[in-house]
Amino acid sequence: MALERTFVLLKPDAVARRLAGEILGRFESKGLKVVGLKMLMVTPELSKQHYAEHVHKGFYPLLEEFITSGPVVALVLEGPGAIAVVRKMLGPTNGRDAEPGTIRGDFGLSRQMNLVHGSDGPEAAAREIPIYFRPEELISYESSLDPWTNANDEK
Ligand code: RTP
Ligand code: MG
Repeated sequence: MALERTFVLLKPDAVARRLAGEILGRFESKGLKVVGLKMLMVTPELSKQHYAEHVHKGFYPLLEEFITSGPVVALVLEGPGAIAVVRKMLGPTNGRDAEPGTIRGDFGLSRQMNLVHGSDGPEAAAREIPIYFRPEELISYESSLDPWTNANDEK
């Protein structure tokens, strides 16, 4: 499976509820590699860029209010099939619908405050990563775990 990079945002509820480490730990335990990480405040301008597809929707003002309400942690995660793997780990948008075992299913009850954003496809990942990270902020490195995440006949 080809190595992919995906953009992940631990939203203000995840940080405020002190769940950032636990959620990051799930991605690490899965075998995904952190290649970018920063804490920041999302500004209204950044929110409109990130959520461009939702800006004209009725729920957007409340989404912007939420996503700009406190610090977030932005991540770029790398691994085989990382984009779909992360979406599966998140579960559906609404925490009430998300299965136990998923992040949203295990930690949330809300549709808006659903803890984590993950790119929903390769185009989204390619668009979102540069919104949050300059190229030099992403670090490519070898790790001793790499051989355990992708067998030769899976590459
Ligand atoms: P995300 O983009 O954050 O990974 O979430 P998603 O793909 O599962 O959901 P999406 O439809 O892209 O919605 C983006 C975020 O907006 C909030 N939302 N509020 N009030 C509403 O009807 C509503 N719908 C979505 C959620 O925070 C959702 O994650
Ligand atoms: Mg989305």
